[in-house]
Amino acid sequence: MNTAEIDIEYREMRVVSVSGVDLTKALSDSHITLLNDSFLSHHILCLRGQTLTPHQLVSAGRVFGEPQVQLLGDYRLDDPPEVSVISNYNKLGGEKPHVRATHWHTDDSYFARPAKATMLFAMAIPSSGGSTQFIDTEAVLNAMPDEMRRGIEGRRAVHKYHSRRGKAVVAVRTPEEEALTPDVSHPLIRTHPETGRKALYINPNRIDHVEGLSIAESDALLDELYDFAFDVRFQYRHHWQLGDLIIWDNCCTMHRASTDFNVFERREFQRLLLKGEVPI
Ligand SMILES: [Fe+2]
Repeated sequence: MNTAEIDIEYREMRVVSVSGVDLTKALSDSHITLLNDSFLSHHILCLRGQTLTPHQLVSAGRVFGEPQVQLLGDYRLDDPPEVSVISNYNKLGGEKPHVRATHWHTDDSYFARPAKATMLFAMAIPSSGGSTQFIDTEAVLNAMPDEMRRGIEGRRAVHKYHSRRGKAVVAVRTPEEEALTPDVSHPLIRTHPETGRKALYINPNRIDHVEGLSIAESDALLDELYDFAFDVRFQYRHHWQLGDLIIWDNCCTMHRASTDFNVFERREFQRLLLKGEVPI
């Protein structure tokens, strides 16, 4: 099995593309270790050329962790329920195709225990555009000026499903889904549960305010943080190929969908979330 770095547009973003792995077959222990080590050290792993049924996608998820059922029932497959569909033709969008998740975010931060990783499997991609962009928030924290870092050390932010500051249109929850997603608080600097490395942990879609500050102070701090974190030097853009399976680490990355494609062309993925830990 070869591992090689590819498509790195910005050197700060560490991405590995892996070829020669067939996830429909059982992997050896050494390959499982290699894949997990690569995932943890690079934050984003792209496994090219996969042909997976939804059940095989769940099995592939078990290579990296424990698959979980995502919040929104309308996106889930009936069988297996751990797999959901992300599409510009999603039924929640009505007749007109649309693109969701176009603002920077990390998945699942409105839960007390957010998913450790997200896996996206490319089922249909437009003829051009439609990439997914990433930000490495460990690199952001490492590059942060000392004064800015001191301003967030030990601070926590309140994440809400419907944040006062969120720019994205978020899906409507059923009353049962609403009961599962009360407001939660997470540290702004997070220690990775497996590597021990620290990263900035922000979700501009879901953070409402920083605890212990006035709303004006909190907004000023978040604006400053986001300005710094969104810098292009921390970004990587993934140009999808059919059969790409990407797994990214939600502890230390953010992502967003690009809108630079003909929205009437289908852009569709199967998505799997892996259970995570309470951020500390
Ligand atoms: Fe997302």
